[in-house]
Amino acid sequence: MITVTRIGKHIGAEISGVDLTQPLSDDTFAEIAKAFFDNEVVFFRNQKITPAQQVAFTKRFGILEQHVRKESRLPGFPEILVVSNLVDHYGNAIGAQDAGRFWHSDLSYKKEPSLLSALYAVEVPVKDGKVLGDTNFTSTTAAYDALPEAMKQRLQGLKNVHSYRYYRNKNALAQKEDAARGGRVVQEHALTEEQLKSVPDVEAPIVRTHPVTKRKGLFINEAHTSAIVGLPQAEGDVLRNEICQHIIKPEFQYRHSWQAGDLLLWDNCAALHKANFDYDLPQRRLMYRTTVRGSVAV
Ligand SMILES: [Fe+2]
Repeated sequence: MITVTRIGKHIGAEISGVDLTQPLSDDTFAEIAKAFFDNEVVFFRNQKITPAQQVAFTKRFGILEQHVRKESRLPGFPEILVVSNLVDHYGNAIGAQDAGRFWHSDLSYKKEPSLLSALYAVEVPVKDGKVLGDTNFTSTTAAYDALPEAMKQRLQGLKNVHSYRYYRNKNALAQKEDAARGGRVVQEHALTEEQLKSVPDVEAPIVRTHPVTKRKGLFINEAHTSAIVGLPQAEGDVLRNEICQHIIKPEFQYRHSWQAGDLLLWDNCAALHKANFDYDLPQRRLMYRTTVRGSVAV
């Protein structure tokens, strides 16, 4: 019997009473899946799972993606993206060092954007007894519900362009500005033209119906949305920024403070997330991410 404890007002719950190293019955898995879709972000504490167990558990939700950043995959586990600030003996990054400084949902720029992501905390950075590297989540369904009726009408039927190329350029600029201010320098592998071409821009409705819960949510984000279809660039930018500011109002958010052994799942159709880069070596952060493929946004 699992226990689900809601944490945030609209999003975030802890699931206890589950040991993910043990086989889960279909009934227990169904309870977990229900809790997940009801709460949009759920986490399990004190799990001692192997990469193979993480893959096996998350695979029960659907097909796992292999990230376009090949160099950041865990050796032997192509479905696991390493998210870490660690470097190897040669000083090379062992994973993605800079995954998520802007609010986004994972792989929203794909034709079939991700259903959910799971992040397992192997090591979390701690300084002076304080855990760093929290992740913020926000509910796009609660944000949609709270919109004035006139705005709901305006957005109905409008599409936005999700672009990985746009994101890479925006992120590279932000990294440069960070470094110029004396902030941390991030190692980032340049993607080949072939890699970029494998993720062409896609158009998706701003108001999206969740494939499982059928709730409406706002499928737009500051990281990947490069334009609003049919609007001049400047006008589209203003509208995008207005919606994105609305989505991240504090009442829609849950902030997760990590513990080693956490496995946390978030719904990429109903939530956005953002990393906090308030740590640096020698504080070590090592996380493993798996990402489940979703369906075309409608
Ligand atoms: Fe992310």
